[in-house]
Amino acid sequence: MNAPASSALPAITVTGRSPRVLVFDSGVGGLSVLREIRAARPDADLIYVADDAGFPYGDWEEAALTARIVALADDLVAAHAPDLFVVACNTAATLVLPSLRMRHSLPFVGTVPAIKPAAASTRSGMISVLATPGTVKRDYTHALIDTYASHVDVTLVGSTRLARLAEAFMAGEAIADAAVAAEIRPCFKRRKGKRTDRVVLACTHYPFLLEHFRRLAPWEVEWIDPAPAIARRVVALIGPAEGRVGRGRAIFTSGRAPAAPLARFMAEFGLETA
Ligand code: DGL
Repeated sequence: MNAPASSALPAITVTGRSPRVLVFDSGVGGLSVLREIRAARPDADLIYVADDAGFPYGDWEEAALTARIVALADDLVAAHAPDLFVVACNTAATLVLPSLRMRHSLPFVGTVPAIKPAAASTRSGMISVLATPGTVKRDYTHALIDTYASHVDVTLVGSTRLARLAEAFMAGEAIADAAVAAEIRPCFKRRKGKRTDRVVLACTHYPFLLEHFRRLAPWEVEWIDPAPAIARRVVALIGPAEGRVGRGRAIFTSGRAPAAPLARFMAEFGLETA
């Protein structure tokens, strides 16, 4: 499978109103992408959709997950008429981007593992990709490695617990250092006097645990978060900020209200949750 052809997407022209950008994830992870989009386009109208009724995506079987996301995206496009749809979830984007692009005429920007910049910048020649079990299994991820990292020693780490730990942390719950440390430990490899120096954050939930990762890492590495690059891609498509003040709302497919700390965090980006 080829890498996504998002660079070929044509720019969108929206006149007389703010562009409407829908940002989608299984849970709160996509907020790590949304905050970069908000910083780059304070005037955009943002709709954040968390499919928390389906969370975690990392455990789903591929055909069932594809069917779920395709149906949900059809409904969201019909209901909100976004100008741009950001699949801010590696587990979803590595699976459904081609189907979504075939079904709809609006542009879809996806978050996929940042293997290319990690492979290009590593000094030791050893990188790790920290993702969900779904993302590490994807043909798409393996195609990225074949295309951009065939000269590099790549360790794929599929974490079963980190996305849940990030959800708990964002809801204001305490999370145990030992639990986080156990999940990141397999990223740190030594071979022939060299050791891992780049870890790709290939799940949008993980940047929210970055302070934990830095503190608990056995040695210093560069943690690669693709969110700023995704925001630059969005700006390349919808253009630079204009003078308006953007609005925002968040939708949870479960219908549950977010915990107060999470609602406060989302309010910082203008997202109404009620
Ligand atoms: N945030 C999602 C990602 O980027 C995954 C979390 C989940 O397992 O649902 O892969």
